[in-house]
Amino acid sequence: MNILVTGGMGFIGSHTVVELHNSGYTPIIVDNLSNSDKTVLNGLEKITGQLFKFYEVDCNDNRAMESVFKENPIDGAIHFAASKAVGESVEKPLFYYQNNVGSLLVLMELMEKYHAPRLIFSSSCTVYGEPDFLPVTELSEKKPAESPYGNTKQICEEIIEDATRASKRIRAIALRYFNPIGAHPSSLIGELPLGVPSNLVPFITQSAIGLRGPLAIHGSDYNTPDGTCIRDYIHVVDLAKAHVASLQYLSGNAQCDFDIFNIGTGQGNSVLEVVETFKKVNECSLNYAIGPRRPGDVEKVFGDVAKSRRLLGWQTELSLEDSLRDAWNWQLSLSRKS
Ligand code: UD1
Repeated sequence: MNILVTGGMGFIGSHTVVELHNSGYTPIIVDNLSNSDKTVLNGLEKITGQLFKFYEVDCNDNRAMESVFKENPIDGAIHFAASKAVGESVEKPLFYYQNNVGSLLVLMELMEKYHAPRLIFSSSCTVYGEPDFLPVTELSEKKPAESPYGNTKQICEEIIEDATRASKRIRAIALRYFNPIGAHPSSLIGELPLGVPSNLVPFITQSAIGLRGPLAIHGSDYNTPDGTCIRDYIHVVDLAKAHVASLQYLSGNAQCDFDIFNIGTGQGNSVLEVVETFKKVNECSLNYAIGPRRPGDVEKVFGDVAKSRRLLGWQTELSLEDSLRDAWNWQLSLSRKS
């Protein structure tokens, strides 16, 4: 099966390309390289022994996207390509709606036209906002989005639901990711944030290696055991495997037109727990200082993943320790290259 992977050069996309290949699928990568680098292809080739088809194409470019569909029979698509910086989305809402919502429309129209019947969409636990009950299940209330970025995820889920209800030509799954971290255990692919990382783990690894100053912990006065925010951190390889399980589920369950799954570990860890675990597993020091809260942060969120386990037959296999060791080894390998 040929699977179009939009955003396949990015952090989650590249790890999913590996897992697709390992499971016998043929990934075809589309990426505009706006937040990734062509060298990812070398890492993918070293891991898999395979040179993947890659199109440097913007998913909003209808014409270029159509030529990808014309050149390749596409059996399904995994749509990662999107912008994901919350702060930037507040500053440039129109760009976010165009980029994230517009690209989904282009993709789904082409999937209908060229009879590519399966879609896996990258959604986010951001749709739950600050939850009333934990862990959140797929039936938990969606809260009004805190940012245009969060809103694009909600809107895209709704578009997919409406489109799959109206036409049987596409069947789809939206995966609500919790916090993906880590890197491939080979240290050949990982996260490549542009500029100062806003996410926790890349900041930790860059700070520990001396590229950044001390980590600022965004608030320690939350209503949590140690006062810092709680998230559900999932190893990116486990997350990548959830995409393969979802494709298999769509293929094996013809009655499924659209469904939503939480993809996390089911466990919450605080920022301070992440910091302490990082120091312990990697036997390295990390300077940090407690700073003010970050606007828009939720206090705690972690997922109930029983539905994914039951229906997709998927569950996480790697621990927080594994994630933080792989993230650090990836940072070390980057510094050896530079
Ligand atoms: C963020 C987005 C989320 C998006 C995800 C994409 C917000 C509110 N949420 O998730 O919608 O899907 O990124 O990757 O922005 N932290 C620090 N110091 C730092 C960085 C982070 O203390 O330098 C803390 C944060 O306050 C938070 C935790 O670490 O409590 C995780 O932060 P982060 O990695 O940015 O992820 P989210 O905010 O959960």
